[in-house]
Amino acid sequence: MKKYFKIVKDNSNSIRSKCVDANIDQETIDLVNSMKDYLIDSQNEEIRNKYHMREGVGLAAPQIGKNIRALVVYYEEPQEDGSVKIIDHRLINPKIILESVKEAYLSNGEGCLSVDDEHQGYVYRKYKIQVKAYDVCLKKENIITAYGFEAIVLQHEIDHLDGILFYDHINKKDPFLVKDGAVRL
Ligand code: NI
Repeated sequence: MKKYFKIVKDNSNSIRSKCVDANIDQETIDLVNSMKDYLIDSQNEEIRNKYHMREGVGLAAPQIGKNIRALVVYYEEPQEDGSVKIIDHRLINPKIILESVKEAYLSNGEGCLSVDDEHQGYVYRKYKIQVKAYDVCLKKENIITAYGFEAIVLQHEIDHLDGILFYDHINKKDPFLVKDGAVRL
């Protein structure tokens, strides 16, 4: 039987602590790659059910008990022409270097592998961002430009590195407040 990471939940103090810069070495690269494998398996219904996993499109190192700045985003995006685009980011020490004024939010709200309770409401994030990081896929420093859903997932994962969870962003008084000019996705 394959052994999977135990996901750290939001009742743990460590999920709320700020992560330290990661060493860019084989150990970190192996960890990041195994996080990607976890996400791929979580997207397979059979494996997910067998191992009681939840489906995820992003995972940050603190969610598997490593308080270092590393994250993975992985999902398949069907294109209009019938092909499938694979979004695969495996980043060490990511840093947002540019962000749009324009915001975006998911109409169904956000979810998180570390959060089992339901937290309803909109999470406003930047519509477009640029992230500088060591890119494990390219084996070098890279600047990634992302917008829409991809940018939202990246911001959700980068938040984890600072101990921030998606529901921290939900307006407590008016969780479904609609902001002018924000893109609804
Ligand atoms: Ni999360």
